[in-house]
Amino acid sequence: MSLDKLKRIYKKAEQDLTKLKDLAQLNNVKAHYLGKQGLLKDFLKDLSKLSNDEKKIFGKEVNAIKNSLEEKFQNKKSDLETKLEAAKLASEKIDITLPGKKNRPGSLHPLSIVENEIVNALKSLGFSVASGPEIESDYYNFEALNFPKNHPARDMQDTFFVDEQTVLRTHTSPVQVRCMEKNDPPLRIIVPGRVYRNDADATHSPVFHQVEGLCVDADINFGDLKGTLEAFIKMIFGSSVKTRFRPSFFPFTEPSAELDIMGKNGWMEILGCGMVDPNVFRAVIEKRQESCSESPYDPEKISGFAFGLGVERVAMLLHGIDDLRAFYENDTRFISQFG
Ligand code: PHE
Repeated sequence: MSLDKLKRIYKKAEQDLTKLKDLAQLNNVKAHYLGKQGLLKDFLKDLSKLSNDEKKIFGKEVNAIKNSLEEKFQNKKSDLETKLEAAKLASEKIDITLPGKKNRPGSLHPLSIVENEIVNALKSLGFSVASGPEIESDYYNFEALNFPKNHPARDMQDTFFVDEQTVLRTHTSPVQVRCMEKNDPPLRIIVPGRVYRNDADATHSPVFHQVEGLCVDADINFGDLKGTLEAFIKMIFGSSVKTRFRPSFFPFTEPSAELDIMGKNGWMEILGCGMVDPNVFRAVIEKRQESCSESPYDPEKISGFAFGLGVERVAMLLHGIDDLRAFYENDTRFISQFG
């Protein structure tokens, strides 16, 4: 052990200090010189072997070097910390001139909006909302609605069968029968709901939406049907809308008609309607197990009209949309235009 050696260590430490790049390196190097098992400690251990005079000189030197190094490491540490902080600030800089991210609130689907408009218009005319199952028995979907056993609508091509006696309802009309079985006339109901048909192109979807209407009372006639539907259609499309009733056929109405509206591509059918066929009342009577003469649905004493409206058709006409598949793709660029 010599003063020379001590000076060399000090020099080496000073050199090492200049090369330090981060705090981890600094801690390692500092421990190497000043730590519990560091080079300076080794010197102090050997101090006891020296004479008192030598101890004085040596001890002083070692301490001076120790203090100096400690100060230098401390300064270096502050240096590194300042640089680190500056680098961090530079990398986390926020450009406050960039445009912010907008919150885009959701909105009702265009079909829901149109369905709500339809339902609200009909409510204002005195109808109240009813509902029924989407998985329906053959009886309510066809039989009670006076479909003959071999009617083409029962064909596999149109109807999704769950089993031989069960279908996905092809229209909301079965709810007419279900409501009449449970409620006495006068009856004024509407039924918004999903229906299913095995059909798909630009104007047909295998799942679509209808709003059924049924009005039953004494002395309801075709004039009531026309007046009600015309008033309703004007509420939806405005008073200058061009409409026409076309004679048609449905097994559960007689006479029957279809209502067309003039759109940008010509006439478009939007609803079927007619006077409730007496056979539908008879099916209700039979189910309620009442004799024909006492039943509140005796076709000799009451009459009614019914209609079924396609929600997609109305929405297409209202918004000038040619392809109804746009309603189901849920491209937000399309659906956000309606909210
Ligand atoms: N249910 C018929 C359809 O889906 C529409 C309709 C309802 C016709 C009520 C007459 C009366 O096409």
